[in-house]
Amino acid sequence: MEKFVISGGKSLNGTVRISGAKNAAVAILPAVLLADSPCIIENIPNISDVTNILLAMKALGANIRTINKSTVEIDPRHVNSFVVSKQMAEGMRASSYFLGALLGRMKKARVAPPGGCNFGVRPIDQHIKGFEALGAKITFEGGLVEGYADELYGSSIYLDVVSVGATINIMLAAVKAKGLTVIENAAREPHIVDLANFLNSMGANIMGAGTNIIKIRGVDTLLGTTYSIIPDQIEAGTYMAAAVATGGNVLIDNVTPKHLESIIAKLRETGAEILEYDEAVRVIMNRRPKKCNVKTMPHPGFPTDMQPQIATVLALAEGTSIVTEGVWDSRFRYVDQLTLMGADIQVDGKMAVITGVQSLSGAPVKAVDLRAGAAMLIAGLATKGITEVEEIERIDRGYEDVVEKFSALGADIKRVYTPETNEILKQA
Ligand code: EPU
Repeated sequence: MEKFVISGGKSLNGTVRISGAKNAAVAILPAVLLADSPCIIENIPNISDVTNILLAMKALGANIRTINKSTVEIDPRHVNSFVVSKQMAEGMRASSYFLGALLGRMKKARVAPPGGCNFGVRPIDQHIKGFEALGAKITFEGGLVEGYADELYGSSIYLDVVSVGATINIMLAAVKAKGLTVIENAAREPHIVDLANFLNSMGANIMGAGTNIIKIRGVDTLLGTTYSIIPDQIEAGTYMAAAVATGGNVLIDNVTPKHLESIIAKLRETGAEILEYDEAVRVIMNRRPKKCNVKTMPHPGFPTDMQPQIATVLALAEGTSIVTEGVWDSRFRYVDQLTLMGADIQVDGKMAVITGVQSLSGAPVKAVDLRAGAAMLIAGLATKGITEVEEIERIDRGYEDVVEKFSALGADIKRVYTPETNEILKQA
């Protein structure tokens, strides 16, 4: 087992380079299965969620060659399996994308439902509704979701909830279906546009990605391409929030400022100065944060995946803030951990009332999910004393080189092997 040990209370200063977007990578990599020739994918984040996707693709029969830390060549020509087992899906939030990609490629798929973070029920009814509208028969056998079709046909699909996953999965299945598919009430996140751009660069015909109506005219063939994944909006937002919480001055490099608009707006409300450049933003904070209210919503609203991080900033703010979760049923499990550090937060259903305190105090805490873990890092960095963050494998799912990146900004953070690890290493 590993944990992070943070000796906090220092303001962050310097430059951090943001990696490729996790939630784009976990969609684009399975999408490679739709190609008839090899693809080169650049700017892939080196995180465990991506490693697990690549291992699953290898097990399906794809040939994967690492070109460098962030670039792989994937040859899907010999993929002959359509099964993603429970073991392969474990620890992978995005296993369901193999359903869409394998249905699109082979018209059949048998995939274990996703593992990974736990913040409430994570249904896939809208994905299934989409596949069925395209003509697939979906069944549940032995804990696996099975999809089968003789042929997929374009159709009109109205999503009852704005779902990133359902929008992506329907795009994957529909891109080689016969005829026109229309997704209404589609999600508009930057990674949806990135997936559409990738598929179009292989020869797909997708229009409207980034709006709430996406039209997909099916094509017979998709050809390999070279494609670079967009920067990670949430990783960028996390470093921005850390700069604000620690009263720092940080250049967040290799970002798309347009994708950060809602985060920039809210951090400005807390009193931060934020300068926007073509591919970078600078965050300067010279004061204690001010209170502000935040409601998470699908893009272009404030992202739910930044909710724990901004709540941590507000836990240190002057005054009382209200944070409302508008996407997930339950995403406040991290609050108990922040409370251990002295935060004053009352949760009532989907709302948290945060009364800012002057300072937190270091404590042993857990990363109860990926973004909750990011919040613990921010809290630890902003707090004098020692904070130990356990269960950090959840943070490694989504943040590349997190220790190296924070250390380069002047933070005192170490990855430490716990006695259990030493025991395991001794026995190995
Ligand atoms: N929903 C349904 N039915 C469905 C699908 C979703 O009711 O069939 C509901 C969910 O319960 C939720 C809402 O719709 O209340 C939105 O869920 P969505 O499908 O958009 O979420 P997702 O695709 O499972 C992705 C990200 C999450 C992020 C959400 C919302 C990936 C791999 N995951 O999940 O990211 O929170 O969109 O933006 O893209 C993270 O990175 O930490 C993370 C959890």
